[in-house]
Amino acid sequence: MRTIAMIGTGYVGLVNGTCLAHIGHSVQCCDTNADKIEWLQQGRIPIYEPGLEAMVAENVAAGRLSFTSDMASAIEQSDLLFIAVGTPMAPTGAADLGYIQSVAEFIGRHLTAYKTIVIKSTVPVGTGRMVDSWIRANMQNPQIPFDVVSNPEFLREGSAVADFMKMERCIVGAIRPEAAQLVADCFEPLNTKTYFTTPESAEMIKYAANAFLATKISFINAIANLCERYGADVEDVAEGIGSDSRIGSAFLRAGIGYGGSCFPKDTHALNWMADQAGYNFGLLKEVIQTNEEQKYVLLKKLVQALGDLRGTTIAVLGLSFKPNTDDLRDAPSLALIPALIAAGASVRVYDPVAMSEARKWFGSDVNYGIGVYQTIAGCDACLILTEWREFITLDLEQVRQLLKRPIVVDGRNCYSLASMSGHGIEYHSIGRTAVS
Ligand code: UGA
Repeated sequence: MRTIAMIGTGYVGLVNGTCLAHIGHSVQCCDTNADKIEWLQQGRIPIYEPGLEAMVAENVAAGRLSFTSDMASAIEQSDLLFIAVGTPMAPTGAADLGYIQSVAEFIGRHLTAYKTIVIKSTVPVGTGRMVDSWIRANMQNPQIPFDVVSNPEFLREGSAVADFMKMERCIVGAIRPEAAQLVADCFEPLNTKTYFTTPESAEMIKYAANAFLATKISFINAIANLCERYGADVEDVAEGIGSDSRIGSAFLRAGIGYGGSCFPKDTHALNWMADQAGYNFGLLKEVIQTNEEQKYVLLKKLVQALGDLRGTTIAVLGLSFKPNTDDLRDAPSLALIPALIAAGASVRVYDPVAMSEARKWFGSDVNYGIGVYQTIAGCDACLILTEWREFITLDLEQVRQLLKRPIVVDGRNCYSLASMSGHGIEYHSIGRTAVS
């Protein structure tokens, strides 16, 4: 059992802190945002993440997990300091390391005994060494030893707790093998495979993994666009190529592009890193560009189906960047809805979980529905942007009756063409022919 300070209680910090407590460590989650800490102390979880609230409650009750805004004493009381603060995208596309730097400087000022400092945040290659120097530059007693270890995380929003508990691999990048082992030991109860690397390789693994997954998505979306032009079916194509174990079936779901707080930011940051190094990563630039264009394919399909959008009312089902999260960051809905409004449509939106988040992004630009059927009633067409369970089990008869014109444009291929045929609904999807 280790004592851990998790610095930053955003998505990554909160999930990792809670799960590390769950596997037996004593964890203090710290944040400079005192309001957030107060919420957490009251058992209120600021993000929607299945299973997290119950796990927080269980571990707080067991005395393994606590929340504090007193970072200095959390640091003093802990063996390992995990840094899990945000690295948002700067206007240049680079990752903004402002929060990382101020945490590193704070650690430096408060270092009174040996600590292992673990970087969980996604940071550009070379940041571990910078963190080392930021700490060193602020130490009152330069004799105190410490290690900086890179330990990138691969959890997905919406299934983060399950992903942690069934961790597929653990990457530990360190200079000193003893420090690497100390970090690897924290995850020992999970029985996962650990890969020991240099800090630079660990940092690169994180970006390469996300960029590769983004590449798979943009690739299948480009194939989907071709399928539409040649009368092929992208679902069959994805299955056909995905069954080749060298390719793999994961991340070959065609749609309206990837969103969220990771793929868009991380692909831009890797592209920026490549540019900085004088290497033109053309492939990655195309992945990003293909994704940008893919966000608007539903607009083209809608215009083809409806004609002029002026004076129409369009129902939009699903706002979060994927199901099981209320996160709208870089969601395709943020690009598509303003485009619909600019084309003259009124927009009525509904999401099972992200409605209050949506109000922050869309304000009074859209109308907010209550439930699927109230939302689509009287609309000229219905768009599906997120494959929430509620949207893949619609009562198609009701949908046909409630829509003014029975047109469904599905950006996530929630239905098979066979199941949509014969309901009197004109159904458009991604990479497949339209059916009615
Ligand atoms: C992603 C990675 O999957 C995690 O391994 C990583 O830890 C995380 O980023 C991170 O860097 O923190 P996440 O952004 O939560 O996780 O979500 P994903 O499930 O990867 O989905 C990302 C986007 O790709 C979503 O918009 C989703 O709709 C889209 N997607 C995914 C597709 O369009 N097609 C697919 O086949 C799969």
